[in-house]
Amino acid sequence: MWKMSFNVAMDGPAGAGKSTVARAVAKEMGLIYVDTGAMYRAMALFMLREGVDLKDSGKIAENCTRADITIRYEDGVQVVCLNGENVNGYIRTEEVGEAASVISPVPLVRENMVRLQKALAARSDCIMDGRDIGTCVLPEAQLKIYLTASSEVRAKRRYDELTAKGESCDLQQIKADIEDRDYRDMHREMSPLKQAEDAVLVDTSDMTQEEVIAEITKLCGQARA
Ligand code: DC
Repeated sequence: MWKMSFNVAMDGPAGAGKSTVARAVAKEMGLIYVDTGAMYRAMALFMLREGVDLKDSGKIAENCTRADITIRYEDGVQVVCLNGENVNGYIRTEEVGEAASVISPVPLVRENMVRLQKALAARSDCIMDGRDIGTCVLPEAQLKIYLTASSEVRAKRRYDELTAKGESCDLQQIKADIEDRDYRDMHREMSPLKQAEDAVLVDTSDMTQEEVIAEITKLCGQARA
């Protein structure tokens, strides 16, 4: 018998901890985790590899149809493929993240990604994170969360992550980059980042990761009951 899938939409700015939290909640609740940022990152990687001028939205639109982006799951881990190649190992750099923020406002890029995301959610119980999930991709989601934290806190978390990996970095520069990215994601014309009217706001500035995971797992349990 046809059954409607259970969908959780999670949006918020870069560095709010969406992916870590969504991954943990997915495991706890038996959901698939769909990381939509990874799809935009794969598209950005394609543009960088092809040497497409990222200032030229016409060229981005022209070239995006040559990038076939698909998702599959291996042992519960999302694998993003770009024209058949697993690109998980190439999309987590700052350069690709920045480029993803630059190419993502292009309407044709968004239309293709949103179609893929809607299809995934229609056939699976999932928690999907991104910027426009509650407002545009899954407006009917049973639960919507807007996860955020101050830019100071997000920059400090990123700084700690990078220094733990032995990378040298500058806290003020990270904060400036995060604020630039927020501005771009929130002010683009097509589906900008904003809290859906019916989303629950979770500000993690003064919360531990465990507290955030527990809170959202609780909200999921209530929404599913
Ligand atoms: O979440 P992330 O940092 O991996 O996302 C990279 C960029 O992709 C982000 O700056 C904006 C874009 N993005 C988007 O426009 N819509 C989404 N649903 C997810 C990401």
